[in-house]
Amino acid sequence: MPNATEPRDGVGHYTSVAGINYQNYLLILHQILKPKRYFEIGTLSGGTLKLASCASISVDPRFQISSDVLGSKPACHFFQCGSDLFFSENDPSQILGGPIDLAFLDGMHLFEFLLRDFANTESKCRSNSIIAMHDTLPPDVWMTSRNPNDPRRQQSQQPGWWTGDVWKIIPALKRYRPDLRITVLDCPPTGLTLVTNLNPNDRTIVESYAEIVETFSRTDLDEQLFDDFWNEVDVTSSNNLKDYFNISSMFWL
Ligand SMILES: C[S@@+](CC[C@H](N)C(=O)[O-])C[C@H]1O[C@@H](n2cnc3c(N)ncnc32)[C@H](O)[C@@H]1O
Repeated sequence: MPNATEPRDGVGHYTSVAGINYQNYLLILHQILKPKRYFEIGTLSGGTLKLASCASISVDPRFQISSDVLGSKPACHFFQCGSDLFFSENDPSQILGGPIDLAFLDGMHLFEFLLRDFANTESKCRSNSIIAMHDTLPPDVWMTSRNPNDPRRQQSQQPGWWTGDVWKIIPALKRYRPDLRITVLDCPPTGLTLVTNLNPNDRTIVESYAEIVETFSRTDLDEQLFDDFWNEVDVTSSNNLKDYFNISSMFWL
């Protein structure tokens, strides 16, 4: 898998985000790891919620469920609200009867929202839970605007895709939480990142929140910063799932 070091060529890094589609990869995780407790922020029509067959929580301020997302789940709890409100009023580990095994964060596509979603979710996990985050490897800078109505999005090769600036979660976690094990996958269309070696008691993000947000949220469509990110990020091929991720050490049961 290329380490995405190719120079900007006007078409971005699309060829570097060409592994297993993110939903297919999440399905593989469900099938191999068999989580008992699944937590999702950002469900929309349910394309990722339907992949889970265990007890689940789904949080979204505006559900647009369009298919059978329940499947064989023994329980599925829907919270039609923003994730901040959800966490202020609920404890997902109490609802699910234990710590979250697998989480997928795909809610509001702004860095500071994902940062809060990550910290809140981690506090309800155990160390070898996995937190998956979507849109963390956008192939071009124009889809990363903080404002979804930014006209510069038209310069993207895919002007219909909006990832926002959640990609910044990777450099932010690497800087502030070097203890985490972070795997950035080349899952199309816009990347999937898995985080484990979690610490539900860690307070770094909460205590440094203002500093982290000030550092990472003030930039928008900074091409140099985005190029630096692509030059530094260590991209893992999703096709090498078993080799790289060492699934055997992740078994929970
Ligand atoms: C990209 S869609 C999710 C797609 C879905 N995970 C999938 O892959 O099929 C993003 C969703 O996040 C929801 N969302 C927006 N702001 C949110 C927030 N503050 N908390 C939770 N969800 C939010 C939107 O309503 C939208 O349904």
